[in-house]
Amino acid sequence: MKRPDSFTRRKFIASTATGTVGTVLAGNISLLGSPLQAVSELAIKGGKPVRTADWLKWPRWYSDAEEPMLSVLRSGDWYRGRGTKGTEFERLYAELIGSKRAVATASGTAALETALHVMGVDAGDEVIVSPYTFIATYNVVFNQKALPVFADTDQETFNINPHKIPEKINERTRAILPVHILGLPADMNRINAIAKKHDLVVIEDACQAWLAEYDGKKCGTLGDLGCFSFQNSKHIPSGEGGAIVGNDDKIMDHCYSYHNCGRAFGNSMSAFQGYPFRGGNKRMTEFQAVILMSQMQRARADADKRLENALYLDSTLKDIPGIIPYKLTEGATRSAYHLYPFRYKKEYFDGLPREKFLAALRAEGIPCDGGYGPQYHDGLMEEALSSRGYKRLFSKQRLNRYREELYNLPDNDQLTREAVWFFQNMLLGEQKDMDDIVHAVQKVYENRKQLL
Ligand SMILES: Cc1ncc(COP(=O)(O)O)c(C=O)c1O
Repeated sequence: MKRPDSFTRRKFIASTATGTVGTVLAGNISLLGSPLQAVSELAIKGGKPVRTADWLKWPRWYSDAEEPMLSVLRSGDWYRGRGTKGTEFERLYAELIGSKRAVATASGTAALETALHVMGVDAGDEVIVSPYTFIATYNVVFNQKALPVFADTDQETFNINPHKIPEKINERTRAILPVHILGLPADMNRINAIAKKHDLVVIEDACQAWLAEYDGKKCGTLGDLGCFSFQNSKHIPSGEGGAIVGNDDKIMDHCYSYHNCGRAFGNSMSAFQGYPFRGGNKRMTEFQAVILMSQMQRARADADKRLENALYLDSTLKDIPGIIPYKLTEGATRSAYHLYPFRYKKEYFDGLPREKFLAALRAEGIPCDGGYGPQYHDGLMEEALSSRGYKRLFSKQRLNRYREELYNLPDNDQLTREAVWFFQNMLLGEQKDMDDIVHAVQKVYENRKQLL
């Protein structure tokens, strides 16, 4: 399903090597052919901001969704048990991602919970997870009454470090839950090899990684099951929404059944009637499905645009001292760029704290964020560990060791102090918009002394 015109890193570099970027980079930090004044008042200090124009608003909506939305509204068939839109969306989404089947869900969280249950993650199990993720990835494991066990992060790729996984495996480990965080593919070949060796299942949290690719295959199709989110901020948004993708009919029938109150579903369950399985209501509404089918039509073109702009940022930002753009993991062929991340090394900014750097960039008209913190110290882990259920399910020794291990995630801790993100809607701009970003970072660098 690879698009013939898909824009690869290599093609981009080849096409720009003698163009703007190529000449720009020769000038060290005098980027983009228009060196800034060495001294220029920062906007946060009352100077003129690099940018005053708005960024693209998100989400966008398209008039082709209006008629089907009204038609669903007027029909009264708002839930998928009485409509056809959910099923139509599942077929199109599976096609887009390159999987045999999809099950639409109410949210990405619902997709992950369904996948974990169907793949047999049960009370008292352990699941290996990246600590560098949205909190939902921790929560879904807790919701199974299992233990999310963190393998430290690779700071360069922002992803789980596969070399740190084996030491976390024990007789309770049931699954690995890699997250293609920020849209950056996790190291799936290594992760799958470890899972195979230890007889573990692999559920991909692809909630930020629509159309990202690893080894030329779409993220979400590399493990046993892949889970996506369509929440408001996502690249294919419907307010709330999610999907599970997979190739195994029996497993996918079970996913459908679980998300639909445990009713029997599909050929593999034809011998059953009524409610033969556990389940819940995790269904997507027909309205969500209609919005998604409209949004999906732009997904590939948007992904190409984000890639083009992200590669441009890579090639320019890297020449500013102390700015280290993300690195794609070995085998990753394409990020989705849900966020554009880099590491900010304050040593190169005379010790300027990241928060001050972020505030200065924002004042220049560049939205940005420091991203995930060390949220495993926020209290939720202890709230779970000290509950009656966890004390019954895990030994005191195991829980105490677990508590200690939360203080042994040095790479993740450092990444949470140094990461900087730009948002995906910014990457849908034109090259001049990317130039604003680069100029603003360069301006803060060159005038950092004003902030000390
Ligand atoms: C990495 C990750 N996992 C899981 C989720 C959960 O998805 P949802 O918000 O649709 O429940 C999200 C959503 O933000 C996410 O970013």
